[in-house]
Amino acid sequence: MIQIKHVRKTFKQRSSGSFTAIDDVSLTIRKGEFVSLLGPSGCGKSTVLNMVAGLEGYDEGTIEVNGTKVTGPGSDRVVVFQEHALFPWLTVLDNVAFGLKQKGIPKKERYEKAMEQIKTVHLSKFADRYPHELSGGMKQRAAIARALAMDPEILLMDEPFAALDEQTRLILHKELEEIWMKTGKTILFITHNIREAVILSDRVVVMSTRPGTIKKEFAVQAARPRDNADSVIHHVESAIMDVLAEELEKVVKEEMGDEYSLKKNDFSRDSADSVGGGI
Ligand SMILES: Nc1ncnc2c1ncn2[C@@H]1O[C@H](COP(=O)(O)OP(=O)(O)OP(=O)(O)O)[C@@H](O)[C@H]1O
Ligand SMILES: [Mg+2]
Repeated sequence: MIQIKHVRKTFKQRSSGSFTAIDDVSLTIRKGEFVSLLGPSGCGKSTVLNMVAGLEGYDEGTIEVNGTKVTGPGSDRVVVFQEHALFPWLTVLDNVAFGLKQKGIPKKERYEKAMEQIKTVHLSKFADRYPHELSGGMKQRAAIARALAMDPEILLMDEPFAALDEQTRLILHKELEEIWMKTGKTILFITHNIREAVILSDRVVVMSTRPGTIKKEFAVQAARPRDNADSVIHHVESAIMDVLAEELEKVVKEEMGDEYSLKKNDFSRDSADSVGGGI
C-alpha cells in the first residue's frame, strides 16, 4: 500500500548549506497493516509521515501509494495531528461533515455519514457541541471521526494521543484498535510512547537520528484485541527499549560531549512514559 524506497530529504538551513533530515529510508507497509514509527525527537518521524501525506517533497528516492508516485495530498490519505485541527466555529457534526461538503455530497447524506462516524467514536451525545465544550479526548475522537468520514484507505497519525492524560489515552487505544479491526484501514502512526506503539501495532519501526534512518523493525506477534498483560507485548517493549537506549545515548553524547553517559536503567522502566520525548 505504501512503498518508501531510498528516500532522502534535505532542508535548507537559514545560515548556509542544507542539512539531511532523512537519509536512505526504505519502508513497505502492506494494506491493512498498522505500523508505528518510534525514535528520538528530531529523527524525522513527522517528515516521513508528511512526505507520505504529500505535504512535503523529497530529494531522492520514491514514495508510492497503491503503485502511484506521491506528488501531493490525495483523498486516499488523511492526516490526524496531535493538536486536533477542528474548526472552533463548527459543531462536532459540522466538523465531521466538513470534508464531505467539500466533496459535494448532499446535506442529508453527509450528515448521515458524519453521524455514523461520530457513533463509531462514541460521540453521539456530543454531536451538536462546539470544540471548546469538549474534553481533549473528545476533540481527538472528533478529529478521528472527521478523518474516517473521508473514508481514506490510509490514516496517517502524528502523535494523535500525545497531549492526552493516561486514562483517556488507554481508552482511545482500545477504540482505535476496534476501528482499525472493523475498517481494515492501513495506519501509519507516530508516537514517543513505546507501550502505545507496541500495543497498537503489527510492526514497530525504530528510527535513528542525524540523519534520520531506519534502525530496526520489530514485529508484534500478539493476539488481537491486544491485552496489556500479554507477555509478547512486554518482550517486544524490552527489546525496543534496548535499541532506543543506544540511540538516545548517541544523541545525548552528540549534544553534550563524551563525558556524558547514559545507562539503560537511567530510563524509566515504565515504558508508558515518553522515552526520548525530551531529547
Ligand atoms: N520545515 C523544516 N525546515 C527545516 N528543518 C526542518 C523542517 N521540518 C523539520 N526539520 C528538521 O528535520 C528534522 C526532523 O524533524 P521531524 O519534525 O521530522 O522530527 P520528529 O522525529 O517528528 O521529531 P518530534 O519527535 O520532536 O516530533 C529535525 O532536525 C527538524 O529540525
Ligand atoms: Mg514529529
